[in-house]
Amino acid sequence: MEITVLGVSGSPRKGATRYAVQEALQAASEIEEVKTRFIDLKGKDIHHCIHCDRCVREQVDYCPAFSDDMGEFYPLLLSAHGWIFGSPVYQMNPTGLIQTFINRLRPIAPYIGKGHYATRVGGAVAVGGTRHGGQETTLESLNNALFCIGMVVVSGGIYAYNGGAVWSRDRKEQGAREDEIGLSTVRVIGRRVALTARLLALGLEHLPKKPDPGILVGFSSQEELEERRAAFRRPREE
Ligand SMILES: Cc1cc2nc3c(=O)[nH]c(=O)nc-3n(C[C@H](O)[C@H](O)[C@H](O)COP(=O)(O)O)c2cc1C
Repeated sequence: MEITVLGVSGSPRKGATRYAVQEALQAASEIEEVKTRFIDLKGKDIHHCIHCDRCVREQVDYCPAFSDDMGEFYPLLLSAHGWIFGSPVYQMNPTGLIQTFINRLRPIAPYIGKGHYATRVGGAVAVGGTRHGGQETTLESLNNALFCIGMVVVSGGIYAYNGGAVWSRDRKEQGAREDEIGLSTVRVIGRRVALTARLLALGLEHLPKKPDPGILVGFSSQEELEERRAAFRRPREE
């Protein structure tokens, strides 16, 4: 079984984050049966989500509102078993570029309720110019986005906590290369995403019967999930 781990660099330039995400993917590729793909958001034309909800109404797994660079990413985001989101730290948060990319994930939201992402894995990498410049708050934000997709979000556990954290000293790739401790946390995340994704994919394949989506996303039955959905759509009683 081939497992795919997708890395996304949210930097608008060829710098430290691109290098760090590729380092995570390199570590991921050392896990048996794992292949990697890389999306560099640098120079990409990605319009912000305008909440038109056309993707929801028309039930399509792409954005019907804009013909921009986002279109080529949806198939990759649907097929990959693991995602690694990487961002520079901007004012202690992810960049607007990766936030825009994340906001445009709405067309794949229906797959969450189908249980598609319940056995897929996410992890995060943050690269700040300062040693304690907001890597942890940036990781928290990226991890929160992965939680919203319903993925199994991995921590780095010992020494890597909530993700890969790099201190670049504002020196692009060279700065990241010199932060050996930071890079070790990045590699931990790469391996953890890859190995956990492989375990989940193999486990799912070997179950005697594939669970209903409702069970996969954490409800006691498919009926309970349907009831929860219906209640969400019902108007509130005054
Ligand atoms: C608008 C802006 C805001 C930034 N804010 C922070 C910050 O809050 N904390 C920090 O450590 N570095 C901050 N930086 C520095 C970048 O995070 C740092 O240079 C990072 O390595 C850039 O990644 P890149 O080389 O992949 O583009 C900021 C840089 C810019 C351009």
